[in-house]
Amino acid sequence: MAELTDVWFDCDTGFDDLLALLVLSRNPSLRLRGVSTVVGNSSLDNTTANTLATVEAFGIEAPVYRGCPQPIAGRPQTIEGLLGEGGMGTTGRRLPEARHRQAEPEHGVRALSAYLRAASAPALVVATAPLTNVAQAINLDPSLAAKISRLVVMGGSAGSGNHTAAAEFNAFADPEAWDVVLRAGVPVEMFGLNLTRQVLIGPADRDRVDAVGTEVAGAIADYLDAYLRIRERDRPGPMPLHDPCTTVYLAHPEWFTLEPARVEMELAGRITRGQTVCEFRVPRKAEPNALVATRAEGKQVVDYAVDQVVAALRDAP
Ligand code: RIB
Ligand code: CA
Repeated sequence: MAELTDVWFDCDTGFDDLLALLVLSRNPSLRLRGVSTVVGNSSLDNTTANTLATVEAFGIEAPVYRGCPQPIAGRPQTIEGLLGEGGMGTTGRRLPEARHRQAEPEHGVRALSAYLRAASAPALVVATAPLTNVAQAINLDPSLAAKISRLVVMGGSAGSGNHTAAAEFNAFADPEAWDVVLRAGVPVEMFGLNLTRQVLIGPADRDRVDAVGTEVAGAIADYLDAYLRIRERDRPGPMPLHDPCTTVYLAHPEWFTLEPARVEMELAGRITRGQTVCEFRVPRKAEPNALVATRAEGKQVVDYAVDQVVAALRDAP
């Protein structure tokens, strides 16, 4: 039997974080050691509650830890206005609040740090949120940067932004965190908007989820319906499947192209703060410090993600 790879998942659950976690939890080659939450899509209370509702509904046993309630600098940026109540809008049904699962007492940054320290070899971390927890772990103990073998992250963009014209939301929400991670030399595999916009989920996928026929499936279908109506409330349309690109990549790297680049975080730009500036002319123009995803087999990625969600719904307790 092949050796399992340990993985840590850092998220700001939101709907696409939920899908990413389901895909990760069903990867037979990975052992999910812990989940840390952070302020992002919504407040830390909401992202933690959404994560606990998810792990309880799907029987995911990994411990959940509350991380940072605010970014390293500046005020928390949340996007309930865009995503809906609590950071997870729905057109009807929603998951019940967790009744049995609670967050562990240990702070998420300390739990992540302990995971990294205890790892026999440098460890895998997946982040689908602002990088505050990861950066604070490194700020508290800089030696931990070398204990991260791979940081597979949804964030940034090698092209335009979404929260602003220049910045993707996760990067915009805590640019200093990105700067800490990049300067610390953490091996980053970046899945930015330039990539996730090639991976579109749509109404037919919602119908596939709804067809499972359970109450949990109905809730996921209604979250997805709301997600598909972010742009046009009265007409659900295709939307980028941002966070699951990271966890589908771990199962099927062959569906993605990643290229070495020099990624730098803009901290001071009056209108460009939070922009991940990607220089692909490496090493001629700059030393590379990351692998940046540039191409995806979009339909295969979405179909696989939905397959895993449907399977998780069928297996839900
Ligand atoms: O820009 C996309 C990112 O912002 C995703 O992680 C989504 O969950 C939101 O947090
Ligand atoms: Ca997210």
